[in-house]
Amino acid sequence: MNVLESILSRRSTRSYQSLPVEQEKLEKILEAGRCAPSGGNNQTAHFLVIQKEDVLKKLVELVQNAFAKMEVYDGMYKSIRNSILQSKKGNYVFHYNAPVLIVVANQKDYGNNMADTACAVENMMLEANDLDLGSCWINQLRWLNEDPTLVAYLKELGMQTDERVYASVAIGYPETVDGLPLRKALERKGNKVTWIL
Ligand SMILES: Cc1cc2nc3c(=O)[nH]c(=O)nc-3n(C[C@H](O)[C@H](O)[C@H](O)COP(=O)(O)O)c2cc1C
Repeated sequence: MNVLESILSRRSTRSYQSLPVEQEKLEKILEAGRCAPSGGNNQTAHFLVIQKEDVLKKLVELVQNAFAKMEVYDGMYKSIRNSILQSKKGNYVFHYNAPVLIVVANQKDYGNNMADTACAVENMMLEANDLDLGSCWINQLRWLNEDPTLVAYLKELGMQTDERVYASVAIGYPETVDGLPLRKALERKGNKVTWIL
């Protein structure tokens, strides 16, 4: 698959098999993330690659607890609203039970923290697609990136004091009939282009 083929066929996967992902494949995905460009070549992204079931369960519990305490309001971003409502019902699994969650942290006082993270995440999702793995950007840990309980737990896992989470990526084999990612491209309705000739 060349780069454009991977871009055009990458779709978000939201249902995963519990199968572990081979270490060699994860290493390629991390290489793709680590080799993303960064502002001023800063290279301050920090990738926490979580595969331990107990840790994933604990994160699910902490995310659910944090959202369950929040209230929805009119005009709230619909995904956050959905996270809150599902958490209040007690059945919210923010990472879709993917066997691997790559949490991307960066320095909290660095102006390009989010931009660098986005470059790394897209690189990782494109490489995952090339390896026949499903992936999905998971934003919940960013929305909750100042939640004291989550910050404390992520620090136990290795996040540094001056870092915060800016994204995470779910990775795994998709729960599809053939085990391959769904690859049907979505119609482009927006993202307009103005050519100045
Ligand atoms: C910044 C950003 C945040 C996102 N957050 C989430 C998320 O928290 N959960 C989720 O299921 N998908 C999330 N997505 C995936 C988008 O919903 C998805 O890319 C979009 O609907 C287009 O579908 P596609 O990825 O299949 O092409 C996010 C994507 C981006 C770029």
